[in-house]
Amino acid sequence: MLRNALLYFSRQRALRNWVETSPIAWRLSSRFIAGHRLEDAITACLKVRAEGITATLDYLGESVRSLDEASACRDMYVTILHGMRSAGVEPNVSLKLTQFGLDFSIDACEENVALVAKTAMEVGGFVRIDMESSEYTERTLDIVTRLHQRHANCGAVIQAYLHRSANDIDRLNAACIRVRLCKGAYLEPPALAFESKAEVDRNYMELAGKLLTAGVYPAIATHDERILERVERFAANNNIRKDAFEFEMLYGIRRDLQKRLIGEGYRLRLYIPFGEAWYPYFMRRLAERPANVVFLARNLFRH
Ligand code: FDA
Repeated sequence: MLRNALLYFSRQRALRNWVETSPIAWRLSSRFIAGHRLEDAITACLKVRAEGITATLDYLGESVRSLDEASACRDMYVTILHGMRSAGVEPNVSLKLTQFGLDFSIDACEENVALVAKTAMEVGGFVRIDMESSEYTERTLDIVTRLHQRHANCGAVIQAYLHRSANDIDRLNAACIRVRLCKGAYLEPPALAFESKAEVDRNYMELAGKLLTAGVYPAIATHDERILERVERFAANNNIRKDAFEFEMLYGIRRDLQKRLIGEGYRLRLYIPFGEAWYPYFMRRLAERPANVVFLARNLFRH
């Protein structure tokens, strides 16, 4: 309820202006965001690498306003891949198609991502295409499927809250496309998405089972302790090796669980965002946990 309200109100310009200029919001957001510059993000990658954790870098920004802005994002991602390689970090990036021009031209968007995938191929890296709201799902999966035929080093994200996701996973598994499974972070209508946590969690486990038994090196992306335990049990019961999949978490969330998984010998990758366009990402993180909103509100009223 609070989650949906926050996601709804986050689209209002007044709230955006208020949050973007609030020092306390920036201070809270820096828990989830590595910094403004690529150097900050690489430093974060090196820091987590020392703990045995790999990373995927996300250059913040979505829904660009022109194809020129999309080209600039594409060039930034090429720079990121080279920067990771030069720093001795495994080159791995996550990007959003609306940042690459999907709202303007499917062809231009696809070519922009193809250049990033080609660069990733050259530096031995991987490109994950994040999943945005449901109006983009079909187009995103079509683009990932076509791109995968040109560059096998790209993968998709599936959201467990969508009713359609089981079919999408079958389609991606059949095409040998790597999938990251997450719960889903956008405001969706009941006709398209499960509403209760119990339903989303039940679907998450069903989809995780499909990926672990018939997918290609899946990524189980969640901080939900119960789901993590159930996935660990499922993998052990089905003789799925610990290096046949990876867990993924967001930078700044549940450090205790990160440490536990690494200590138990699992693979863990952190999604590390950086850049100036932090507002939408930050609001989705706030919406996921009411305690974050309470903390922000309390401090905003104090200042
Ligand atoms: P859930 O929301 O049930 O939270 C479980 C527990 O995790 C909470 O009890 C709390 O302890 C902790 N937690 C979760 N969120 C927190 C927060 N913001 N602050 C503090 N604690 C928090 N979504 C999407 O739609 N498209 C995408 O491409 C991606 N990509 C992606 C990559 C990776 C690596 C991850 C981990 C997640 C995504 N997501 C995403 C986001 C995902 O859909 C989901 O919104 C969040 O992961 C939160 O859901 P949980 O699975 O953690 O469960």
